[in-house]
Amino acid sequence: MIPDTIISARETAAVLIVDDSRSNTDLFEEVFSSDGFRIFRAAGPEDAIEAFKAHHPDIAVIDITTSETCGFRLCRMLKGMASQRFFPVILLGAGKDRRGKIEGLESGADDFISRPIDPREFSARVRSLLRLKHLHDELEHSENIILTLAATLEVRDPHTQGHSTRVGELCRDFGDYLGLSLQEQELLRKAGLLHDIGKIGLSKDLFLKPPPLSDEEIETIKQHTVIGEQICKPLHSLREVLPAIRHHHERWDGKGFPDGLKGEEIPLLARILSIVDSFDAMYSERLYREGRTAFEVLEVMREEKHLGQWDPLLLEHFIGMMKLAGHELLEQLAAADSRTDEQKETSLL
Ligand SMILES: [Fe+2]
Repeated sequence: MIPDTIISARETAAVLIVDDSRSNTDLFEEVFSSDGFRIFRAAGPEDAIEAFKAHHPDIAVIDITTSETCGFRLCRMLKGMASQRFFPVILLGAGKDRRGKIEGLESGADDFISRPIDPREFSARVRSLLRLKHLHDELEHSENIILTLAATLEVRDPHTQGHSTRVGELCRDFGDYLGLSLQEQELLRKAGLLHDIGKIGLSKDLFLKPPPLSDEEIETIKQHTVIGEQICKPLHSLREVLPAIRHHHERWDGKGFPDGLKGEEIPLLARILSIVDSFDAMYSERLYREGRTAFEVLEVMREEKHLGQWDPLLLEHFIGMMKLAGHELLEQLAAADSRTDEQKETSLL
């Protein structure tokens, strides 16, 4: 819990008040100014949007007494303009306006306060939402630091540049194709971005060294899964991504690392991530070999499926999604699928 003193000490918390009644805004100013907040007034939606863009307030208080519809619309617009950031909005309405209260909360408002206003309660609710916003901002900041670390890692090795970003995006698309929720898709995107962050704890020379590597060097490289988990562990918001980071090198047959998990013991997000990671690694041009076409990579992965590397059903879904990706790959796969069963036995299957 962040104490009130922190909110007060910031002295920069800015409150946007949207109210067409001057006497009301005077009252709000009195309440907030004594708390050390900066106040921006707006008489209507247009002024409010202008003030939102110009002053980046931390919270908005919208009086909906004159026009509920305008107030709800403005609430949605401000929330939309804040995008991924948490931007608290409080609506002020008539005393017994139950319907307005429900509609207001459905429009995205974080609180609804009925008139007549108790200044102390009002101030307490604003502070409560500002504490929540502060926590969101801190969380976003911490996540951004780790994501920046992941990007730094790629710059360190130009041969893998863009790999994590591509894996993150393709993981999210694959999650969408599999019908996973938006929340799971976002977890997959983050897991893709962060899956190799543990390499930051290992020597750069180790990754640039041409093969063959010694057994000891291979064991050291394998540690990047566990180190990655340790780096992200302190961040509560990434807790659901941790299993994917730790287990993205497990194999369906149990011969992977770090824990030798087998089949469905391997978390689903890790099984998805491992397929996408390998696809991008083989598809992209790397230091020691020429890049392959998508078709060639999927052929290799189908062979690996028979050797026990991949979740067989997930791999077929992945190939199904790639077929939908179209163009050249689609034609190649369609041609492959039109081969006779006997031919398939000796090639893809
Ligand atoms: Fe990895």
